[in-house]
Amino acid sequence: MSKVYDILPDAAARALINNDQYLEMYARSVNDPEGFWAEQAEKFVTWFKKWDKVQDNDYFEGRIRWFEGAKVNVSYNCLDRHLETRGDQTAIIWEGDSPDEAKHITYRQLHEEVSRLANALKNLGVKRGDRVCIYLPMIPEAAASMLACTRIGAIHSVVFGGFSPDALRDRIQDSDCQVVITSDESMRGGRRVPLKANVDKALESCPNVRTSIVVKRTGGNVAWKEGRDVWYHEQLAAASPDCPAEEMDAEDPLFTLYTSGSTGKPKGVLHSTGGYLLFTAMTHKYIFDYHDGDVYWCTADVGWVTGHSYIVYGPLANGATTLMFEGVPTYPDAGRFWQVVDKHQVNIFYTAPTAIRSLMGQGEELVKKTSRSSLRLLGSVGEPINPEAWEWYYNVVGEGRCPIVDTWWQTETGGILITPLPGATKLKPGSATRPFFGVVPALVSNEGEVLEGATEGNLVITRAWPSQMRTIYGDHQRFIDTYLKTYPGTYFTGDGARRDEDGYYWITGRVDDVINVSGHRMGTAEVESALVLHESVAEAAVVGYPHDIKGQGIYAYVTLMVGVEPSEALRKELVQLVRKEIGPIASPDVIQWAPGLPKTRSGKIMRRILRKIAANEIDALGDTSTLADPTVVQDLIENRAVK
Ligand code: PRX
Repeated sequence: MSKVYDILPDAAARALINNDQYLEMYARSVNDPEGFWAEQAEKFVTWFKKWDKVQDNDYFEGRIRWFEGAKVNVSYNCLDRHLETRGDQTAIIWEGDSPDEAKHITYRQLHEEVSRLANALKNLGVKRGDRVCIYLPMIPEAAASMLACTRIGAIHSVVFGGFSPDALRDRIQDSDCQVVITSDESMRGGRRVPLKANVDKALESCPNVRTSIVVKRTGGNVAWKEGRDVWYHEQLAAASPDCPAEEMDAEDPLFTLYTSGSTGKPKGVLHSTGGYLLFTAMTHKYIFDYHDGDVYWCTADVGWVTGHSYIVYGPLANGATTLMFEGVPTYPDAGRFWQVVDKHQVNIFYTAPTAIRSLMGQGEELVKKTSRSSLRLLGSVGEPINPEAWEWYYNVVGEGRCPIVDTWWQTETGGILITPLPGATKLKPGSATRPFFGVVPALVSNEGEVLEGATEGNLVITRAWPSQMRTIYGDHQRFIDTYLKTYPGTYFTGDGARRDEDGYYWITGRVDDVINVSGHRMGTAEVESALVLHESVAEAAVVGYPHDIKGQGIYAYVTLMVGVEPSEALRKELVQLVRKEIGPIASPDVIQWAPGLPKTRSGKIMRRILRKIAANEIDALGDTSTLADPTVVQDLIENRAVK
């Protein structure tokens, strides 16, 4: 039996939703979805025109549509409608990489910046439906750029600043972006990262990009291409601050965001306008129990979906004060998170298990040096949180005063689907607990049979919700094949889960070839493709293995060309190659030289065996009788990295 934490009385007293309300609203959301969602849509979103139809969804045909016929604008909802009541309230608190740098930006100021930038984009020829790539550090201009795109109906594609020029190039090309917004450099942990130089490199192979808008962040030296490169501040100064928000259709595309799958290149997950806006606003309010005046901080990067939905769109739609942190948790020291909490009196704090585990490893002293008395609620996202880290977060960081919401979701889901509500849900460390309104999860066997009661299986969602991805940019068939074909009639998450006797869900991790390294999602196939680019590599197989801090580490088995001898220098070259192709986050933790890989007689690599060897679970290799050459396994076991 797992430990159960009762609802904290203080959390219950102020909560927007108690357990009876949760049960009643959940039942209504499932039994009368039309009525339920229409009501929520009225409550959370300001529409220029109401919808003709609440939903039109068919998982068999791959059609997902919400609020068709409605007219709406995201930037209007995040900015304009707040001006009258909270124009002078802080929208964004920016905390720089250095503790000496911070600023507050009000809704009025943000509205002006976004309007000017939107006009600047128009002046540069950006039209409704055009794609704009955003490759920026965690600075307010990133949020402004996203909002400016939504203001004129351009589709943004934010690329995480840690991706290499090659990875950036692939993403720019895939969605045919014609404008890139970047900065001279970014600052992380006291070090400068050459963002513009990365863009310059990527653009060598992106002839369709005609403009690169550059934010001056550090003032560092940059190369300049006349006719293509323009300064952000100069564009803003020259543009009018008056830019009416475009009336978009609810189903117009809002943004693409690239994420990894088990095969092929990263795919451009496409989200649309009305449903996404509603669901991110609603989840942000109810799950984080956001009340007016609260200071809310999500530590994710805007380059990931968590940054889109829970730094920018959900919070700003709700008129919240959202904190944006440029730096890293360990700079200048590993107490930074807690110092920032005190400095800005943060009430709600949302981070990833990998950060908690690494800070936990630094001991309690740095935490205890701070007060953290402003904290009221803690959140976790990105990977399963192990009970030990959960307890530390709860007892040491939150001193037993703050509920933890362990929120399960994905780039594809747009918003949180399985989560506790702080005033409604008893907590079990390590469980994401129960579904959010309108979300109907199910567990199915590998054969597709729906499993009832307390059991374990593949996690699917049986009906559409408003912020579900609509398609993969440019490849609707791949969308259908990846998510809707595996268990027909359902959305397949790629995750496994257990459901306990109380109906609580425990996510057990990916069941496909996707790995989760420090909360960064990666396809093993992507890393393999990078490795085999090296002329000395004949074959590579990559798996995840348990890693104390990162959750999963990257373990690569590499077979060299005949005649090539393994060496430390070659190992370094291979790591360098992966960093160049994808970025530092994809660096293999382990490279094991493999004279052969375990394959079936039909030539398929048996990854199950490679995963077990990497995890040092030698006794659990399972059936190896179908291997073409069983001696291969013996060699891999003897030379494994973790013993
Ligand atoms: O395996 C699940 C894990 O992260 C995957 C989604 O990754 P990404 O699209 O990058 O989005 C991450 C942030 C929403 C999921 O398939 N995951 C995310 N949150 C949790 C989680 N696993 C367990 N518990 C969570 N709370």
